[in-house]
Amino acid sequence: MNVYRIAEEDGEKILIYDNEKIKVLIDESSLKKRIKELGSMITSDYKDIVPVLVSVLRGSFIFLADICREIRIPVVFDFMAVSSYGNSKVSSGIVRITKDLEFSIEGREVLIIEDIIDSGRTLNYLVKNLKARNPRNIEICALLDKNVPRKTKNSVKYKGFDIPNKFVVGYGLDYAEKYRNIPFIGYIENEQYL
Ligand code: IMP
Ligand code: MG
Repeated sequence: MNVYRIAEEDGEKILIYDNEKIKVLIDESSLKKRIKELGSMITSDYKDIVPVLVSVLRGSFIFLADICREIRIPVVFDFMAVSSYGNSKVSSGIVRITKDLEFSIEGREVLIIEDIIDSGRTLNYLVKNLKARNPRNIEICALLDKNVPRKTKNSVKYKGFDIPNKFVVGYGLDYAEKYRNIPFIGYIENEQYL
């Protein structure tokens, strides 16, 4: 049966699919609570501005949908899609834009909505690319920040959670396009592919 199955193991909720066990790292209520807090911070920081929320497809679509409803000011939405070349497990740092923004961001306040920062290379590239279009300001809102050593640091103004260096799925994040629609952030117990 091609259905996610929820089970319990050692008193903890797990999800089973395709013989893989997904353990909960951040549950639904913790996500909801933190996103509400981030939304309030953004609301008060941007209360006299209409920011452009730039979201990076596809991983951040669920985070965007939830956080935008906690932001109580008018906002403009725009989307980009990027793909990293090379080895799929480790980002190469070479990023290609596969879908660009629809609107000009010149003179605008841009808030990038990202799902996860791993090596930080995707975000670095994006910030550099967007800065060249002369926005008034660019800030970053990222749901997850992985604990990995990085050469270059991005200052993330709105951060959801620091997480350990594990490959996570769910809440928009995938492994080989699977698991995006799991409602929590989890990790695959046997990370045999890493
Ligand atoms: P970075 O360029 O190494 O920071 O990678 C960022 C991108 O890789 C994210 O926007 C995700 O799409 C993807 N990514 C990084 N870590 C994970 C993970 O643990 N699970 C799913 N996708 C990830
Ligand atoms: Mg992404």
